[in-house]
Amino acid sequence: MNQSPIKTHGRFITFEGMDGAGKSTQIALIAETLRAHGRNVLCTREPGGTKLGEKLRELLLGMEMHVDTEAMLMFAARREHLAAVIEPALAMGTWVLCDRFTDATYAYQVGGHGLEAVRCDALEAWVHPHLKPDFTLLFDLPPALAAGRVAANGTEPDRFERKRHGFFERVRAAYLDRSRREPGRFHVIDATRKPHEIAREIASVFGERAWL
Ligand code: TYD
Repeated sequence: MNQSPIKTHGRFITFEGMDGAGKSTQIALIAETLRAHGRNVLCTREPGGTKLGEKLRELLLGMEMHVDTEAMLMFAARREHLAAVIEPALAMGTWVLCDRFTDATYAYQVGGHGLEAVRCDALEAWVHPHLKPDFTLLFDLPPALAAGRVAANGTEPDRFERKRHGFFERVRAAYLDRSRREPGRFHVIDATRKPHEIAREIASVFGERAWL
């Protein structure tokens, strides 16, 4: 059986929000701080995190496809990621910091593209029935600001970054809705603020949990 409940000793922390919200910088900073406090830390991302996952990422970010296909490929990459990277790391006591996870599928495919939520529920129940992030930081930002930041970083926008404004309004609303349903798991960050202010807030939230 490959789906028995796993005993987690490390913490599984996910980072969510729109492109351009500044997640990557903050993940690197908090990883460094956790390491300085003696924790083993693994930083990873979705879609991706494994060789196969990175190939699926290329397809997902580069090709137009039906939203069902998109959701299934996201979860296929996730299954591989959990089995090969996340679950073994947690079992060894490693802290896993993951740039996006299943909340992103609810936000982008369900909220943004209108995939029926029951389909996402079914895929989630299949792929990780026993595992939820211990904690999720949601970087919240008005879509217009996020788009400006993506444009300013000079890289070619991927398929998701080229979507229209209304798409990102729906993504944002879906994220915020999820955060309201699980207030204990989510911490919403106002990502319009300066990086050093956000870093201070994250360190303080981790400190409150006695993680630092
Ligand atoms: P991300 O790694 O944040 O992109 P970048 O490298 O440009 O910062 O995420 C890649 C894109 O994939 C992002 O636009 C959101 C999208 N995505 C989904 O649509 N569904 C998902 O389940 C995940 C994990 C990501």
